[in-house]
Amino acid sequence: MKTLITNGTVVTSTGRSRADVLIDGDTIAAVLAPGSSLLGFDVAGNVDVVIDAAGKYVIPGGVDAHTHMELPFGGTAASDTFETGTRAAAWGGTTTIIDFAVQTYGQRVLDGLASWHQKAAGNCAIDYAFHQIIGDVNDDSLAAMRTLPDEGISSFKLFMAYPGVFMSDDAQILRAMQVSADTGMMTMMHAENGPVIDVLAQQLIDKGNTSPFYHGVARAWQMEEEATHRAIMLSHLTGAPLYVVHVSAKQAVQQLAWARDNGQNVFGETCPQYLYLSLEEQLGAPGFEGAKWVCSTPLRSREEGHQHAMWQSLRTNDIQMVSTDHCPFCMKDQKELGLGDFRKIPNGIGSVEHRMDLLYQGVVDGQISLERWVEITATTPARMFGLYGKKGVIQPGADADIVIYDPNGHTSIGLEKTHHMNMDHSAWEGFEIDGHVDTVLSRGKVIVDDNQYLGAKGDGRFVKRSLSQYLI
Ligand code: URP
Ligand code: ZN
Ligand code: ZN
Ligand code: ZN
Repeated sequence: MKTLITNGTVVTSTGRSRADVLIDGDTIAAVLAPGSSLLGFDVAGNVDVVIDAAGKYVIPGGVDAHTHMELPFGGTAASDTFETGTRAAAWGGTTTIIDFAVQTYGQRVLDGLASWHQKAAGNCAIDYAFHQIIGDVNDDSLAAMRTLPDEGISSFKLFMAYPGVFMSDDAQILRAMQVSADTGMMTMMHAENGPVIDVLAQQLIDKGNTSPFYHGVARAWQMEEEATHRAIMLSHLTGAPLYVVHVSAKQAVQQLAWARDNGQNVFGETCPQYLYLSLEEQLGAPGFEGAKWVCSTPLRSREEGHQHAMWQSLRTNDIQMVSTDHCPFCMKDQKELGLGDFRKIPNGIGSVEHRMDLLYQGVVDGQISLERWVEITATTPARMFGLYGKKGVIQPGADADIVIYDPNGHTSIGLEKTHHMNMDHSAWEGFEIDGHVDTVLSRGKVIVDDNQYLGAKGDGRFVKRSLSQYLI
């Protein structure tokens, strides 16, 4: 089947132009000057479907490189399955996710990976890939990690937080990073000093400070800066490429910028919550409502300038991309586990549906350019994690994962408005976006059009990833 997207403005990370996009089957066949013919061949007259994108942007489908469908956490599990979570992603213009397969403590790495394949296979609305969480660095794990690139897994995540659950100590991090340096796999780091945070949290509880706000007080920015620095030095020592996930503190960004200026292969992502939400708002939320914003790293103080620093870092490229860290939990029976003790609130916010819109609002608000929007939400994630060429770009040969975005449309975010994630609340209630995801194509198939879902469970396939394109 051939589809022509015509009259639109094609926006990529490097520029924008009026162009038509010809799709043949599930890939992009050509990007053509408007109305042009292909070697004398009447394109518009020879396609099965013509999509009129007049007045709209035609962009590569979003690549969300950080999601946690069905993640077991704090005695419960993230509320989106691969089915519900990837469908919500599609609604919001994201056409690829990279989820985190989990090796739990005591489990073998490849068993953890196999269980993630089982959760996802046949259930996804869009294409998906995996990073591997290493929850137990030991000789067996280190050997297994060397085989991951053959499985299409070119990155793994370690935790400096959550002692006794996921945390690796410095010796374990060193050994895992040595594998990273040897193989070219990207080390992804949750950079927070867990042992210190846990003591601070206990002291707050002992004083009766139990509400959700104190989650952010305990997870002090100093312990994000410190852990980021430690990860950078271990990366320097071993030569491992390092990608710091969910960066929220301006001081952590300064560490990344310093390392990059020193020529290290160090990268960082931030998330929509660190661009828009703050600890002050969490403090002001009535009763237990602040629990909806409990995530790690935590929301930071607006007054201290963290949000401002995050937007700035996206302009200066000290932070290279934005992922959601989508990790949704319902209030009822999930977040409520932490009534009376913020430490028991499962950590995470659901955003997979709203990342493209929330970042587009950054374009409207003058924070980033239109091209930078595409770059940080699609192109760089694809390049960073070995998907580029197929994903993150509109060019011949690429998968026809395309979003038609209407800058004259409007999106009101909220539970009773746009909400397809499996949650009983929205962390983004009341956000208004001056733009709208109109049409979404996944490998040439229209899966969202005019506020209708046309996709199906199982449309999405597992994608094997290569090593990061940012490494030589
Ligand atoms: O709060 C968060 N981020 N939950 C998901 C797990 C993680 O650390 O990314
Ligand atoms: Zn994390
Ligand atoms: Zn995460
Ligand atoms: Zn508006």
